[in-house]
Amino acid sequence: MKRDDVVARMVQAKRAGEQGWEIRSRLAEMGRGKKDLIQLSSADPDMPSPPKVLEAAARALKEGKTRYTEPTGLLALREKVAEHLLADGTKYDPRSEVVITAGTGEALSAAFRAVLNPGDEVLITDPYYPGHVVTTYFAGAKPVLVAAGPEAGFVPRMADLEAAVSDRTRLLVITNPSNPGGVVYTRKQLEAFASFAVKHDLLVVSDEIYKRFNYTDKPFISFASVPGIWDRVITVGSFSKAYAMTGFRVGWAAAPAEIASALGEVKHNSSLSTCTISQYAALAAFDPESEAYAEEIRATFGRRRKLFMDGIEKMGLKHNNPGTGYVVLVDLGGKISTNAVRFAEVLVSDFGVSLWPGPMFGTTVNDWLRIGLVKPEPLLAETLVRIKKCLRLLA
Ligand SMILES: Cc1ncc(COP(=O)(O)O)c(C=O)c1O
Repeated sequence: MKRDDVVARMVQAKRAGEQGWEIRSRLAEMGRGKKDLIQLSSADPDMPSPPKVLEAAARALKEGKTRYTEPTGLLALREKVAEHLLADGTKYDPRSEVVITAGTGEALSAAFRAVLNPGDEVLITDPYYPGHVVTTYFAGAKPVLVAAGPEAGFVPRMADLEAAVSDRTRLLVITNPSNPGGVVYTRKQLEAFASFAVKHDLLVVSDEIYKRFNYTDKPFISFASVPGIWDRVITVGSFSKAYAMTGFRVGWAAAPAEIASALGEVKHNSSLSTCTISQYAALAAFDPESEAYAEEIRATFGRRRKLFMDGIEKMGLKHNNPGTGYVVLVDLGGKISTNAVRFAEVLVSDFGVSLWPGPMFGTTVNDWLRIGLVKPEPLLAETLVRIKKCLRLLA
């Protein structure tokens, strides 16, 4: 690749992230130093990490576990992750098909760089997790957005997916449960995505970081467990959300050996190996006590979700009724005399609540707000009061 091409793709990536980046920095600046600020923008859980995890990290330090590990991670951790994925009905060989990464973020960037060639196209549902779009550009490829907004019930229509395919399409990205759409895909929907991927000879990245946060009455289904699709799927996830371990930076990518090997090579040549102390800490996430703690986290988010959705409905606003519940989308359409970005600005500057507006997440939720339920219930109740006041001001 010529140097000009490299520069061009950096510029594209920057542009793709730019609108979000620009709004995010402006909102952060407006909230800086504010007393009583309620911070609900980033989906970063407010709970401490499980006690066993913290103990394991301290022990690793004390025992001098401060050297590199194998590039793909501690075998013991890969084995635990493989066991964990087996519970989702997906079988991976921990020696050759699991790579430990610095969170889902690095799993995504290593996966994209491993399988994409310059000029390839990547199908991404809109609204999206911004990292999927920017990472696509950094891999030299082009994101092609597929509407999965409120009109489509936050699920991409097969006709829209078909219309978005070209002979350059290489990869489909599925986020299950989706963020920020909040959909936990049904077996039927996943089977349709699988037939589509096979028909067009696509690889699929299935981002399952929120799988534990399923508040529907249907089971979470891991995409790779759908019959006939396993050999095309890269499953990514992490300890970040489920165990409140965002700062440890540990996650995984699981894929057929050939892909996992390429992905491991990218990982090796970017960060050598994932932080050793964090890997030992992550091993302790599989302790029954940590699992029970993760269940408490899940239940806490469930209560917050209910409280918040009820409050939003009482205000006469619509929400996306997320099947997951780390974040909720709220529709301001027709309720304010300005746009959602301005609403978020006034909300942070005059009412001390920081959250992110829809345009940071694509083109289909321009009139919406995305709220991370990352504060205790009393603060979420207070948030509802402040949103109501802001609505009155901007009606
Ligand atoms: C859909 C999705 N994927 C990946 C990530 C990255 O998470 P991490 O790198 O902490 O695992 C996030 C973080 O919010 C996310 O929402």
